[in-house]
Amino acid sequence: MSTLREVAELSAALSESEYRVLRALAMFLGSRMHVPLEMISASAGLPQELAESSLSILEGLGMVVRNPAGYALVYAGLDALSLHELRARGQLDALGTPIALGKESDVYSGIAGSREVAVKAYRIGRVSFRKVKRLRSYGPQAGGWMLASIMSASSEFASLRRLRSAGQPVPEPLAVRYHLLVMERIDGTLLRRVREVADPARLLRRILEAIRGCYMAGLVHADLSEFNVMIRGDDVILIDWPQSIRSDDPAALPALERDIANIVRFFRKRFGFSADAGRALEYVLGRSPECC
Ligand SMILES: Nc1ncnc2c1ncn2[C@@H]1O[C@H](COP(=O)(O)OP(=O)(O)OP(=O)(O)O)[C@@H](O)[C@H]1O
Ligand SMILES: [Mg+2]
Repeated sequence: MSTLREVAELSAALSESEYRVLRALAMFLGSRMHVPLEMISASAGLPQELAESSLSILEGLGMVVRNPAGYALVYAGLDALSLHELRARGQLDALGTPIALGKESDVYSGIAGSREVAVKAYRIGRVSFRKVKRLRSYGPQAGGWMLASIMSASSEFASLRRLRSAGQPVPEPLAVRYHLLVMERIDGTLLRRVREVADPARLLRRILEAIRGCYMAGLVHADLSEFNVMIRGDDVILIDWPQSIRSDDPAALPALERDIANIVRFFRKRFGFSADAGRALEYVLGRSPECC
């Protein structure tokens, strides 16, 4: 599978008809795994011959796959389309180097206007997708995974927007297109990589303040750990919000307890600092002025 970086280079050479074909295929995600040529050409508004030649170019670049039933989009094709649309809207001018390549997402640096941004590309299903590819066929779930990636990106964007507009310490969301999310790049360190701190109690308080602020703004992270907290100087920034839960949801309280327990456990193991998770929870819920 091509990396986002490789696709960014390949996509510069694509013409408008190829993008129209990609857009048409993206419209069928979730409803049809393989789309017949006639349907693609109709929804792309292209003569069949042109649609077919565009599809062979895209197939050659590994952006679509073909079987007797028709054509299907793969991640590289969705990447090319998303990058193209972000560029066309002036929301992303250049893609830089990888910041983190993970299981379900890749994060790259990028430039948008005069800003340094982070571009998060969701890749849900990639691991299983590789297995499927090894079997030389494409399972019906591939389109569903891309749809899940698109939904995660838009859910994360919405959560970040809500939290940012409430003044909470999360990356500023800048744009979202399909499964790509463009946000403020945080020039900081992951809590996981912090070996020593002068005042662990103070750092823990800042993290709990951030969790409390987000809870009051209506959201519980629900996947919080040392992997999703960034430290920049004295600031704490909470990242990675696609799975967040509304504070008034019945599942919010147990999720909040887990989030807090993860952080408290990390502080004990890493910094030898023991805090009372129950007290921390009371603080986050706004029932106690003291957190630890
Ligand atoms: N806005 C940002 N600025 C700078 N770095 C970021 C930003 N967002 C994410 N990162 C980096 O990318 C990594 C992965 O991001 P994130 O936690 O949002 O994705 P993830 O879903 O956890 O990915 P994975 O599939 O690896 O679990 C982070 O650990 C962090 O190092
Ligand atoms: Mg994460």
